Amino acid sequence: SLSVAATRDLAGRHVVVSAGGTREPIDPVRFIGNRSSGRQGVALAAAAAARGARVTLVAANVDDSVLRDLPAANRAEGPGAAESADGVAVVHVGSTAELADAVHAAATTADVVVMAAAVADFRPENTPDAKIKKVPGRPPEPIRLVENPDILAGLARERRHAGQVVVGFAAETGDAAGDVLQHGREKARRKGADLLVVNAVGRDRGFGAASNEVTVLDGAGEVVTRAAGSKRVVADAVWDAVLKTRP
Ligand code: CTP
Ligand code: CA
Repeated sequence: SLSVAATRDLAGRHVVVSAGGTREPIDPVRFIGNRSSGRQGVALAAAAAARGARVTLVAANVDDSVLRDLPAANRAEGPGAAESADGVAVVHVGSTAELADAVHAAATTADVVVMAAAVADFRPENTPDAKIKKVPGRPPEPIRLVENPDILAGLARERRHAGQVVVGFAAETGDAAGDVLQHGREKARRKGADLLVVNAVGRDRGFGAASNEVTVLDGAGEVVTRAAGSKRVVADAVWDAVLKTRP
């Protein structure tokens, strides 16, 4: 709501938000990626800045058209970007390893870390320096994948200082093993984060294409709050929940 957005209840806090989707190189010209636009992470960064926070946005392959949703006057670019009050410093990354490095570096001073990025679970074991060439009639060797570290679980294990709140996101669909909430509860308990924002993908509540519907769980898998509406409305609901959380 307007009254919430006008409240500078994150003043004096440093928040780190990861957004977008990581890309794992196969060779110099190809990658394994995902379809995350980064819009929810950018909405989280913009909402936090509006509430007075100093924000570091670690943007994994987020399109410039999406970054335009940030408060323009204070937008700063690059790893060495100055972080002014109300500002959003954007650190651009590509792979999961780069995202992990940038998030861990920013997390040393962060009061809150929100992992809204879609992180590749696996990466190619080897990435040749030269482009894989097509040999007609002879398909290349299968690409062997290795598991990436779980950045969120690592952040939750190794808190940089007492009181740091760690938040994850999970897009879930129901399947034979359980519904959206059951999968969310199980993931919340497994990750060790203080909050897990569970997004029921594929459901439409009639708010339009930009809308979102989430259930926020605590680390025990209990429902903290629910929110539906624009990505900005969801973002403000997440910050409300963060402010009520004691890690
Ligand atoms: N995440 C992470 N590092 C990874 C994988 C995921 O930090 N290597 C984070 C995401 O940024 C998100 C949360 O973990 O905040 C949940 O991601 P998700 O893909 O839903 O969880 P997984 O444990 O990878 O489970 P699965 O993909 O099997 O559903
Ligand atoms: Ca995953």
